[in-house]
Amino acid sequence: MYIDTHCHMSRNDYNDIPFLIDKIRKSGVNKIIVNGCSIESSKEVLELTKKYDIVYGAIGFHPTELDTFKESDLEWLEEHINDDKIVALGEIGLDYHYDNTDKNKQNYAFKKQLEIAKKYNKPIIVHSRDAIQDTYNILKEYNLKGSLHCFGSSLEMAREFIKLGYLIGVGGVVTFKNAKNIVNVIKNIDLEYILLETDSPYLTPEPYRGEQNDSSYIPLIANKIAEIKEIDVEVVEKTTTANASGIFDF
Ligand code: NI
Repeated sequence: MYIDTHCHMSRNDYNDIPFLIDKIRKSGVNKIIVNGCSIESSKEVLELTKKYDIVYGAIGFHPTELDTFKESDLEWLEEHINDDKIVALGEIGLDYHYDNTDKNKQNYAFKKQLEIAKKYNKPIIVHSRDAIQDTYNILKEYNLKGSLHCFGSSLEMAREFIKLGYLIGVGGVVTFKNAKNIVNVIKNIDLEYILLETDSPYLTPEPYRGEQNDSSYIPLIANKIAEIKEIDVEVVEKTTTANASGIFDF
């Protein structure tokens, strides 16, 4: 059985969620962590966890969705962080990709959420884009664990995050032709530091790239990792599921 440690499942993206849940279940994925990015999507996550047995949740505020962010959102987060089936804070982090980015606001919201994670002893699911050094410098100050979701940096940085207690989230990008970086990371770190994820509805793995992604494609990512590490896919399945169970309290 597989676990998708990072995906999204908004009504805005999928019009038939019961069908989707059924499809995921049939693919051999029996747990998925649906991530919120704003207060609205985090509320959707709470609803989904109540409705579907395979759905677990991460709630939090994404760095590029902070336009309407206000202090009271943090109170809401604290009120719900210990709700049933909420296994992490996510998707949180830093994203300096766009020129109009308010770095101060991102840093503030990230740190505030890390403080909540620390207070309630919750793992975190981290988004980091064009901001790896700042992400590292901040995480170094907090003694937390979690996932570096959709890891896109170097092998050296992967090793540094692993030292801090983080696991490396690997998704559909690994199946892309230009995936040199993450292939190199996978080759050179132990399987016990790898988590599977889809980040659906984005980043659909080959051969479905361009179509809508969902958690049922997790086995394609596992197959690719098995190929890269020259091991049986069953080992990837077993180990990554154990890795996820070790970090997130299902
Ligand atoms: Ni995501």
